Amino acid sequence: MQIPKHGLSREEVFAALQSFKSYDMDWKSGKVWAYVYNPGEETRQVVTEAYNMFLTENCLDPSVFPSMLKLETDIVRMVANLLRGDEGAVGHVTSGGTESIMLAVKTARDKARAERPDITTPEMVLPKTAHAAFHKAAHFLGLKPVVTPFDTHTFRADVQAMRDAITENTILLVASAPCYSQGVIDPIGEIGALAQEKGLLFHVDACVGGIHLSFMRKMGYHLPDFDFSVPGVSSISADMHKYGYAAKGSSTILYRDKSLRRYQIFACTDTTAYTLINPTVLSSKSGGPLAGTWAILNFLGEAGYEDIVREVQEATRRLVEGINQIEALRVLGQADMCMFSFASDVLNVYQLADEMKKRGWYLQGQFSTPLSPRNLHISVNYGTLPKVDALIQDLRECVEIVKKSKPIDSATIRGEVARLLQNPTPQAFANLAALAGIQGSELPEEMAMINEVLDALPDELANVLLIDYFNELYV
Ligand SMILES: Cc1ncc(COP(=O)(O)O)c(C=O)c1O
Repeated sequence: MQIPKHGLSREEVFAALQSFKSYDMDWKSGKVWAYVYNPGEETRQVVTEAYNMFLTENCLDPSVFPSMLKLETDIVRMVANLLRGDEGAVGHVTSGGTESIMLAVKTARDKARAERPDITTPEMVLPKTAHAAFHKAAHFLGLKPVVTPFDTHTFRADVQAMRDAITENTILLVASAPCYSQGVIDPIGEIGALAQEKGLLFHVDACVGGIHLSFMRKMGYHLPDFDFSVPGVSSISADMHKYGYAAKGSSTILYRDKSLRRYQIFACTDTTAYTLINPTVLSSKSGGPLAGTWAILNFLGEAGYEDIVREVQEATRRLVEGINQIEALRVLGQADMCMFSFASDVLNVYQLADEMKKRGWYLQGQFSTPLSPRNLHISVNYGTLPKVDALIQDLRECVEIVKKSKPIDSATIRGEVARLLQNPTPQAFANLAALAGIQGSELPEEMAMINEVLDALPDELANVLLIDYFNELYV
């Protein structure tokens, strides 16, 4: 592939781009239950227009583009108020949940460096249900993640286990509101009290829940407190590009006060170039995400969000009930908002997801842990509302198909895994990758074998397999 010698026509460019879309799953159909949060056509157009309007402005220098400062501070103020921060609460808009989490972890690390220079390997205590972004942050920033168990019935963090995991080196506690996998809120009040008792920072990951849960609270749904109203919570991440329904590239990281946020900001005058001062990870960045986010908050308003939340919660209730009525399936835990997962004791749910995919549905496979079974995840959002009954119906039919189909050959997989564990040679990895169907640079059609293999492998080896695969997949 080369850059064409002479440019294509506008029509050719767009025809080609449009044709690439045909590779993708059709999220507009309402059958994709992850990755996309669709507020409906009219609102989406408002966001798109606002996004495009500020696509070229650069957030890097607010003295050149003061509109960037205005948009960002407006968004942060609106979200901080929603999360019941007082006038001292501050924050930033970032490119996504992962960046917000990275920054919260960096802030904790740099505060510890300043105040506890004796700590050489800082530790972060987090439940197994916390998002992988914390592990990524630990990996990038040189922290040790100390993972604690959860209650196998409710999927909530085990606070006693978190207490037991705290050492001299602990600098940060983490909990979710809610966790992505099962949609349940950790005991934020108890963990906040623990953080205060031990003098630790406490980050609440409300990336998926910050906006949706706050409106549920305002509407009178019964929910535990999870925001700045809880003493001991020092920072919160809340994504706008999930249940804030903004376009991708928009999350917020909020701190209880400025004294903490200081540690997030990076400045450098030590080069031949311009003064660089970056509050977030990115330096040059488009004003599009800010404008899209500002637009949706103002276009929907509280009433607009509340209408969405009401409908989405009602759809979730019907779905959970409908899935629990299918004999082979059971919903795990009791979700606090509109995301949950379900497992099966009689069939392979990864095969069920593949069977559903043949009918245009996307249900996300999640792995087993020593404490929980493998399962499929569902995030309900406004764009999926019209498909609730159809989903239940197809699930019912596909369960019957999977029950009658050939089960996956787990014995062969376990055999290959055992061989790999005994002798982790490149050939043994290649054999396992071939068995999983992730050889070379092709995208897989079906996920069941891949998930089965990954689920059978210890995490460290599964990660190696995935890294090798992506190293081949992308040029
Ligand atoms: C609870 C939670 N935290 C963090 C993230 C990471 O967010 P992003 O994919 O925007 O980086 C996610 C993503 O789903 C999430 O569910």
